[in-house]
Amino acid sequence: MRERLRIALTKGRLQDNSVALFEAMGIDCTPIKSPGRRLIHSIPNYPMDAVLSKAPDVITYVSHGVCDLGIVGKDTLMEHIENMGRYYEVLDLGFGKCRFALAVKQGTDFYGTYKLRRIASKYPEVTRSFFAQKGMDVDIIKIEGSVELAPLVELADAIVDIVETGSTLKANGLVAIETVALVSARLIVNPASMKLYKQEMVDFISKVEAELRRQI
Ligand code: PRP
Repeated sequence: MRERLRIALTKGRLQDNSVALFEAMGIDCTPIKSPGRRLIHSIPNYPMDAVLSKAPDVITYVSHGVCDLGIVGKDTLMEHIENMGRYYEVLDLGFGKCRFALAVKQGTDFYGTYKLRRIASKYPEVTRSFFAQKGMDVDIIKIEGSVELAPLVELADAIVDIVETGSTLKANGLVAIETVALVSARLIVNPASMKLYKQEMVDFISKVEAELRRQI
């Protein structure tokens, strides 16, 4: 048993939103805001330690119970299905909003052909599941960087990617033709922690919920 809860926060944009949420709850985030080279940060006025990680690692830590809670985007949860069932998704935090979209070069009639279509994505699992639901067989190519390039150089007929403002698509002559899924940050918890540290977990989740309700 640990004496303090441990939460994993996704580094980057979601980290800033998480800090804003915690500060609104009265949690002192000074150590998270200037982390230096330290990896575990002790919250001065709340019995909780915070770890800053890459999004897929947040899921791994919570799934393995080394962190009791985590804040991560729905996009990462949808893509990294290997740990599904090892965590509970308890709250939609309402920030980090964007969507997964299917996008093509302007003027492309994506559904107007019977040939096997090739889709480029940083999210092959999200893409696979989207087309599987349609009963459509597609060839998926995993891309690590700017996936918008793929239709432009004719590597793919379409892409499945995150769209936030739409400006990257627009700047490259691409258009979104379908929403695959809506994305936002989620609070996830380890199921064993919910039993072991029931009171502490429920207290924290209720405080987050109360703050979210206050912000509406
Ligand atoms: C994401 C996504 C798009 C872009 C969309 O990439 O892959 O390229 O943002 O945003 P927009 O609709 O506001 O233009 P991100 O900048 O997160 O970088 P990444 O390639 O490292 O994922």
